[in-house]
Amino acid sequence: MRVAGKFRVGLSADFRNADGSPTFRDFDLAPLTQDPRVETVFLESESVLSARQLEDIDALILLAHRFDRGSVPKSGRLGVIARFGVGYDTVDVQACTDAGIALVITPEAVRRPVAVSIITLMLALTGKLAIKEKLTRAGAAGFAQRGAHMGVGLVGRTFGSLGVGNIGVEALRLVKPFDMKLIAHDPFADANLMAEIGVEMVGIDELFSRADVLSVSCPLSDATRHIVNDERLALMKPTSYLINTSRGPVVDQKALTKVLQERRIAGAGLDVLEQEPPDLDDPILALDNVILTPHALCWTDQCFAHMGTADIQAVLDYCDGRAPSGTIVNRAALDSEAWRTRLSALRTRLGTQGLE
Ligand SMILES: NC(=O)c1ccc[n+]([C@@H]2O[C@H](COP(=O)([O-])OP(=O)(O)OC[C@H]3O[C@@H](n4cnc5c(N)ncnc54)[C@H](O)[C@@H]3O)[C@@H](O)[C@H]2O)c1
Repeated sequence: MRVAGKFRVGLSADFRNADGSPTFRDFDLAPLTQDPRVETVFLESESVLSARQLEDIDALILLAHRFDRGSVPKSGRLGVIARFGVGYDTVDVQACTDAGIALVITPEAVRRPVAVSIITLMLALTGKLAIKEKLTRAGAAGFAQRGAHMGVGLVGRTFGSLGVGNIGVEALRLVKPFDMKLIAHDPFADANLMAEIGVEMVGIDELFSRADVLSVSCPLSDATRHIVNDERLALMKPTSYLINTSRGPVVDQKALTKVLQERRIAGAGLDVLEQEPPDLDDPILALDNVILTPHALCWTDQCFAHMGTADIQAVLDYCDGRAPSGTIVNRAALDSEAWRTRLSALRTRLGTQGLE
C-alpha cells in the first residue's frame, strides 16, 4: 500500500526476475527497505522508461533500461537517477540536466573489478590457459602436446594502456608488480600521476608498435569508435596480445578478426564485442587465439555489492535533503532552479529542513 509523503525509490524492472526474486542477490536493498521514510517500487518493464511510471518517484536506481527526454516525468518530483555501473549511454544526460535531475554513477565500484579482468585476460592469454585446460581433458594425447604451447613470461615485457582513467590507471598499478615496462597513450592523462606510477606516455602509434600486451580502457565516443583499426593493428608485433574491456565498437572487430585469422598478432582477450550478444555465426567465435567473455568478467559479488551500496547511499543522501554523494555526471543539474525548488519541497515533505 502506498503511504503518503514517503520517499519513493524506483528500481528498474531488470533488478527482479519474472518470479519476483532479485536478479543480483549481492545488491542488498536492506538500507532502503529498513528505512521508515522510504518506499521501494519495482517499475514495470519498459525498454524506454515512460514519464507516466516515474510521476511519483523521487529517486531511480537504473540498470539497463533507457531513460530519454520523454522519460522525464511532468510532476518534477524525480531528483536523482543512480546508474548501477559507470556507463550512461542509455541515459539522455542533457535531458536530465535540463530537468535538474542529478545522474550518479559508481566508478569506485568497478575500478578494481574491471582492472582485475584485464589482468585475468593478460594472464590467461600469456599463460595459454584455454589451450592447456583443453589439453588436460584430452588425457595422454593432450599431455604429449604440452611442449607446443609454451607460455610467455612477463618480466621486462611491455604493457600498454590506451586510456588512463579510472580503470586504466588501476590496471597499470596492478601490472606493476609483474615487473613489466609500462607505457600508455591518453590525450587527457594526468602527467604527474603517470610519472608517480612510472608510466611512459607515448604517441598512439608507438603504443601499438611497442606493447607486448595492449589493453584498451578508453570510453566509446565519436573520436574513439574504431580507434583500434586495421592500420593500428598492423603496427602490433606478431607476438603481442590485445585486450579490450572497454566497449566493443572501440575496436574494429572485422579488422581484428582478420588479423587474428591471419595470425598477425598472438591473440586477443575481449570482454566486449561490437554486437552483444554476437550472432552464432560470427567468425570471431570460431577462433582459437581469442578469449571471449560476455561483458561480465568484472561481475563479482563485491562489485555488485559495492555498486548497490554506492547507489543506495546517493539516493539516501538525497532523501536526507542534500546532494547525492559519489560521482555526479552532470553537476550543472545541481545549479538549476528545478533542483533547488525540488530539494526544498522534499525537505519540507520529509522534515529535513536545516540539514545540509
Ligand atoms: N567491461 C565492463 O564490464 C566495463 C565496466 C565498466 C567500464 N567499462 C568501460 O571501460 C572504459 C573505461 O572506463 P573508465 O571508468 O576508466 O573511464 P574514465 O572516463 O575514467 O577513463 C577513460 C580514459 O580514456 C581517456 N581517453 C579519452 N579519449 C581517448 C583517446 N582518444 N585515446 C586514449 N585515451 C582516451 C580519457 O582521457 C580517460 O582518461 C569505458 O569504456 C567504460 O565504458 C567496461
